[in-house]
Amino acid sequence: MKEEYGGQLRAREIAGKIGGVETPVFGLVLGSGWGSVVQALRECKQFAYREIGMGECGVAGHAGNLVFGKLCNVPVVIQQGRFHLYEGREVSETVLPVAVMKELGVQSILLTNAAGGVNTEFRPGDLMLLTDHINFSGKNPLIGLRPSPGYPVFADMTKVYDGQMSQAIQDAAKKAGAVCRKGVYIQVPGPSYETPAEIRAFRGLGADAVGMSTVCEAIFAKYLHLRVAGVSCITNLGAGMEACEIRHEDVLQQSLKREKMFCELLQEFAKRYA
Ligand code: HPA
Repeated sequence: MKEEYGGQLRAREIAGKIGGVETPVFGLVLGSGWGSVVQALRECKQFAYREIGMGECGVAGHAGNLVFGKLCNVPVVIQQGRFHLYEGREVSETVLPVAVMKELGVQSILLTNAAGGVNTEFRPGDLMLLTDHINFSGKNPLIGLRPSPGYPVFADMTKVYDGQMSQAIQDAAKKAGAVCRKGVYIQVPGPSYETPAEIRAFRGLGADAVGMSTVCEAIFAKYLHLRVAGVSCITNLGAGMEACEIRHEDVLQQSLKREKMFCELLQEFAKRYA
């Protein structure tokens, strides 16, 4: 019997509209403000989400394209723009690009995001390699899926983040001169930022950074037997940790400041991970 997983039909249909591309060695999901990382690609081929029936992307800082190309000669696919729960999307929509990557033959996926620092030692501009996560989104992408051979919905999440990928990221970060912390990411639904009491509570739960994406995608990728790694750009300290308010424009600005460094990190990662 052929293996099947939840959401496969739509993902397969979308993947079927993408032709003439080399199987990517890894997939990359870009966080807010890092969209122009695609400029580092050679032999680019771009598909607008609209063209391939993947919907529209509607948040500032998120374009809506799947971009194929070579990064230091390594074929990759970049999801330039993601779907968020806070836009009113279904969780199945937020993880659809992950399923499309699976259908395209991707075996490893690197998820990136902008996040607020919860750990008091973190500073804006630091990177954080995800070692684990807390799903505080209120959703789970596996709810309602039909269990199928090889794809149990009671999926094990003991080790979501891949050791080999994570090591390659750490080595690449060192080469790129980035401060790369490690820690636990907690996904909230958003779109409001947290209160200081929530930030204190999340710290008590063991979170080091907070954001509005990534965890549902990581759960779905793990369910699909993909290797997963995650990197947060700490764009601000959590609510109440600094005197100032948190503004989306400032979050984007801080990500942009780190874009060039992240580009270097990514190229170093591609060389190591190929
Ligand atoms: N909270 C939630 N999401 C975020 C933050 C934050 O402080 N910064 C960037 N994304």
